[in-house]
Amino acid sequence: MDGEGKIRVLITGGGGYLGSIFTRKLLSKGYSVRVIDPLWYGRDPIESCVGQENFELMQEDIRDLTAVVKALKDVDAVVHLASIVGMPAANLDPRTSTEINYLATRNIAELCSLYGIGTFLFASTCSVYGAQPGKVITEKSPVSPLDVYAETKYKSEKAIYQVYEAPTVVRFGTLFGMSPRMRFDLAINLFMAKALSKEKITVFGGSQHRPFLHVADAADALAFVLEKNLDGIYNVISENFTIMEAAERISKLTGAEIEVSNAIVDKRDYVVSAEKIGQFGFTASRNVEYAVKETQEAFEGGKIGDYREPKYSNYESLFSSKEIQAKVYTQGPIFK
Ligand SMILES: NC(=O)c1ccc[n+]([C@@H]2O[C@H](COP(=O)([O-])OP(=O)(O)OC[C@H]3O[C@@H](n4cnc5c(N)ncnc54)[C@H](O)[C@@H]3O)[C@@H](O)[C@H]2O)c1
Repeated sequence: MDGEGKIRVLITGGGGYLGSIFTRKLLSKGYSVRVIDPLWYGRDPIESCVGQENFELMQEDIRDLTAVVKALKDVDAVVHLASIVGMPAANLDPRTSTEINYLATRNIAELCSLYGIGTFLFASTCSVYGAQPGKVITEKSPVSPLDVYAETKYKSEKAIYQVYEAPTVVRFGTLFGMSPRMRFDLAINLFMAKALSKEKITVFGGSQHRPFLHVADAADALAFVLEKNLDGIYNVISENFTIMEAAERISKLTGAEIEVSNAIVDKRDYVVSAEKIGQFGFTASRNVEYAVKETQEAFEGGKIGDYREPKYSNYESLFSSKEIQAKVYTQGPIFK
């Protein structure tokens, strides 16, 4: 599948950290793109796409079945990214996270099957593997989700397989790097922001291994599986390293000091193999050093104000704005 014949793709969550890059990528390849996203974290990341010939924005919620039915009209493929992303944000209200991450996902996959839409591609996460220190994890390894976020993503994977014949599931490592919708609530991005703001990098624990991937490589991987028509489950990562190694690599380039805290909240610990997708010819090409350089340029170019602003964090956006809460939490704002 390539964009030449104007393949029509629906991207859910296309205004997000990954979605805003992936949307641009598909547009540049000649695809027609429709995005469904209520843009909880702002419209800026997708604004420059609005008005382009092959682009359509539906500022709607995937929990609204009528909106989803409309969004699926005349599409050839669905790339499903919409979600309450990350453990802290998903923990805020597990019921809402389950509605969005799991129930809406199941509905969309089932509708894709009903309408004969040829491709359903779901963005899942290596977080489904939980804590499995000392093992190299493949797609065949057992899963062990540790929190609401990972649980809803894994339940979704299972549901998709029940209602859609041959889906594609990509399990991404933790993403990093610059995007039109920047997130500084991701480990490497937060380390880079602190280092570039002349603060110490705080490492919680440090010996936990994690798989990482640049966000632009994640977008490349989505385009790759779409173009190759791959179905099945694929781990997609670039490198595994410890949280301490991440901090040290950033410190080496920026001179930032590292401080260690033993208050470990996030117990995920795993080394993941991306050999399966590699055998089809996909390799990630951007490393942490590349990300430090682009982030430094963004800071120096004045593109990032204060990295602590709520808009850069899913948890802070949802927690601190009554306006956003009123839309996300359909039974009314639940926090002070
Ligand atoms: N960022 C990572 O490290 C990472 C790692 C593994 C997997 N993933 C997966 O990749 C996908 C994208 O993550 P991201 O980092 O871009 O997150 P993000 O929070 O930046 O983007 C999610 C987007 O989904 C939208 N959304 C939320 N609820 C919605 C709803 N009810 N209806 C429609 N849209 C809704 C949001 O407005 C946002 O634009 C997610 O499915 C996530 O689980 C991300």
